[in-house]
Amino acid sequence: MKIVGIETSCDDTTIGIIQEDTILINKKITHGEMLKKYGGVVPEVAARNHVDLLDILMKNSLEECNLQLKDIDVISSTIGPGMIGGLIVGNSFARTLAQLNDKIFIPVHHLEAHILVSGKDFPFLAVVISGGHTVIVLCKSFMNYEIISNSLDDACGEFFDKLAKEMNLPFPGGPYLEKIALESDIICPINIPMAGKVDFSFSGIKTEFKKLINKYPKETIAFWMQDLVAKILCEKINIAIQKTNIQSIVVCGGVASNKHIRKKLQQFQVCFPPIELCTDNGVMVAMAAKMHVLNNSPMVNNFKINEFPRMNLDLWCR
Ligand code: KG4
Ligand code: ZN
Repeated sequence: MKIVGIETSCDDTTIGIIQEDTILINKKITHGEMLKKYGGVVPEVAARNHVDLLDILMKNSLEECNLQLKDIDVISSTIGPGMIGGLIVGNSFARTLAQLNDKIFIPVHHLEAHILVSGKDFPFLAVVISGGHTVIVLCKSFMNYEIISNSLDDACGEFFDKLAKEMNLPFPGGPYLEKIALESDIICPINIPMAGKVDFSFSGIKTEFKKLINKYPKETIAFWMQDLVAKILCEKINIAIQKTNIQSIVVCGGVASNKHIRKKLQQFQVCFPPIELCTDNGVMVAMAAKMHVLNNSPMVNNFKINEFPRMNLDLWCR
């Protein structure tokens, strides 16, 4: 079974093709010009970029795998959450291609894709840390998910990106902060927010860190930020383990590509997707679609479901 996965929920136009468990291709075009010009993502511009890029990316991906459309069995795409314009572009493309060519179409939830790319056996706790979400999900079995913890305000990646902007680093700031981060002897003056609670909050520490920007070297602040996030994650994961009695942990989403955070979380029974599968990619969509096929889920050939900008994973399963 060969599956195409399309991911256009934010500013990367991405396509992945898998055959069973093998990744045939993982292609990504970042909207660099938009990010440079506007210093961030402009939803309308991103959606237009997806229109311009998706068709050619699909052609190139097939060609590079020595495949033709007739060799593909399933076409899947992220249906939400995300920016509605980009989602509509990706799904219109996927649905049309599937319908015209008699392929199976599968809509996929973005967080489910981040989680299922790990290929981990159920049950486990999934810690999704991305630019739009920070959640801990108890994954009991396929399509049986319970949200244990959420962010009350900003997402973890948003915390990195917003502060990086204040520090004049390019967007998205997370990877640039990791690049410049340097440990120093000075102890970070900011503590874990919401200590003892299972939920996250990043907006308070964002304000605290802003006050430090001209007082300490950028490199030190960058190190403190990723180190504090690692400590916050450890604290919340411990609480989630106590609540659920589940020790097996998957950490995924864009921020999970941070090497310092990956190292600090090794104290748990943890697994991370490979770094190139942590930030948004089409392979994760295809992997999730494969699970829908194997479980004969209601999403198989579900042409009726509409794109959605927001929806918790637990609602998605109902
Ligand atoms: O999962 P993702 O690609 O997109 C969303 O679903 O939001 O995550 C993007 C987020 C951005 O906030 C980005 O700054 C962050 O992941 N990120 C990182 C690193 N690479 C990406 N944050 C910290 N360290 C990194 N190496
Ligand atoms: Zn994502």
